[in-house]
Amino acid sequence: MQLYEKYRPKTLDQIIGQGKAVKTITRLIQNGAGGRCFWISGISGSGKTTLARIIAGSIADDLYVNEYDSADQLSISALDKIEVDMQYRAFGKGGKCFIINEAHGLRKASIRRLLGLLERIPDYSVLSSLQPNRANLSCLKITLMRIHCFQDVLIFHLRIRALQNHSLNTADK
Ligand SMILES: Nc1ncnc2c1ncn2[C@@H]1O[C@H](COP(=O)(O)OP(=O)(O)O)[C@@H](O)[C@H]1O
Ligand SMILES: [Mg+2]
Repeated sequence: MQLYEKYRPKTLDQIIGQGKAVKTITRLIQNGAGGRCFWISGISGSGKTTLARIIAGSIADDLYVNEYDSADQLSISALDKIEVDMQYRAFGKGGKCFIINEAHGLRKASIRRLLGLLERIPDYSVLSSLQPNRANLSCLKITLMRIHCFQDVLIFHLRIRALQNHSLNTADK
């Protein structure tokens, strides 16, 4: 497993910094994140995917969290499939999530189609990682701050977590 997957926070209290974004998301999760679209922006490595997955996990089981890694995968026909898929409730927690990475790269036709879908979100959320101002999607905007402001703090925390993991593993043996 890649290191960034191994140490990816699973809960909001493991997110270091990003206080404003965490506060907004905490409130949203308390009220139910379903039926919404989030537009998460920030530079690479600032925690967009991590937060998208945490929001997703609040309403959907892993099996129903669909991630589209590049804009290319999100053709009109892929969006048609999403539209059909979103009509049915999932098992388990009941919700479904669609995470669109690098959504600023979507073609204009796909953006138009996506806008149509956003009008009709039932009990699941569409989550996007977009760069600001590229598409006027009707989403709740979450902006992550540049990481270098607290890079040292982040590295410190990750070291502690890695050490804790290591001693847990050796204690098992
Ligand atoms: N604020 C943060 N607190 C803790 N870990 C973070 C934070 N921001 C990023 N990370 C970690 O850095 C790595 C990359 O984050 P990721 O969510 O994939 O960034 P992005 O999608 O914005 O490129 C992951 O392992 C993630 O857990
Ligand atoms: Mg990402």
